[in-house]
Amino acid sequence: MATLTYMPTDHVPVLLAELVALTDPRPGELAVDCTFGGGGHARAVAARLGPTGTLICIDRDPSAAERYREAEPELACQSRFVRGEFSAVLADLADEGVRPDVIYMDLGVSSMQIDAMERGFSYSYDAPLDMRMDPEQRLSAREVVNEWPQDRIAAILREYGEERHARAIAREIVARRPLETTAELVEAIRDAVPPAYRFGRGHPAKRTFQAIRIAVNEELRALQDALPRAWEMLAPGGRLAAISFHSLEDRTVKRFFADKARGCTCPPELPVCVCGREPEAELVTRRAVAPTPEELERNPRASSAHLRVARKLETNVEGA
Ligand SMILES: C[S@@+](CC[C@H](N)C(=O)[O-])C[C@H]1O[C@@H](n2cnc3c(N)ncnc32)[C@H](O)[C@@H]1O
Repeated sequence: MATLTYMPTDHVPVLLAELVALTDPRPGELAVDCTFGGGGHARAVAARLGPTGTLICIDRDPSAAERYREAEPELACQSRFVRGEFSAVLADLADEGVRPDVIYMDLGVSSMQIDAMERGFSYSYDAPLDMRMDPEQRLSAREVVNEWPQDRIAAILREYGEERHARAIAREIVARRPLETTAELVEAIRDAVPPAYRFGRGHPAKRTFQAIRIAVNEELRALQDALPRAWEMLAPGGRLAAISFHSLEDRTVKRFFADKARGCTCPPELPVCVCGREPEAELVTRRAVAPTPEELERNPRASSAHLRVARKLETNVEGA
């Protein structure tokens, strides 16, 4: 693998104290960190699990595997690392009969990924269009930008980027093909949007870059696939947590948890319940937990973070 250039920033774990307090990992338990990154959450969770506990760490990025190798001697519990896309790895772990007490995911990209200039995640550095978390995967930003139809690009900019100038940006991208670098993409975006947006609050390319990254890494699909798998394999009494950075992700988690926490769905006019449905989950967080102003001051990258946690009820679980 090519040597990567890093700016001198490390990933600061987001909502760390809140994640640990609300998932409450206990000595001897088994936990799964679906998004190891730089291991910030993993270190704190491992400290709670202690020497009799186990932490399985997952990440699709080989640089996270390197970080794990460095961190492993410092983790206070037994641990192992599995490289891969977390929804697929969870399926394999479930097949192995793994029944975690805690599963958590801290979604999106790490600061190390954004700051590794050559990887093309950032609009601030000129680099080849890439944005793959897993450099072995086929689809990259280059293909999205140069090969996808204009309508499909506009749709992801709208949906994943909530970009109000999606149509104009998509049109400009298609008109300028081929685009090879992030700087060329930034230039196309700047020229597509009105001057007030170009010089307004926030970088004009921020939403487009976010949208393309989410599409390249199929981030929503991974989350949608992972939630039911994680829930099913969780031990009775187990806790599932997700930190999301995008309203679509947060909505996905919120709806999933709400569905699991729902009891009887019979119409109110029925005198007795005929559906027999009972809640499977207790919502540990009724509302999403957001960073405190102190955390935001220390770490502005936490600004859109939302944490939700649900506990799998011990009754109502088959075989429990
Ligand atoms: C926000 S960072 C996690 C940071 C970590 N919690 C820490 O404290 O350092 C997200 C990490 O999850 C990984 N990731 C994102 N989506 C993934 C997926 N579907 N499967 C596996 N890894 C994923 C990324 O490669 C990245 O390293």
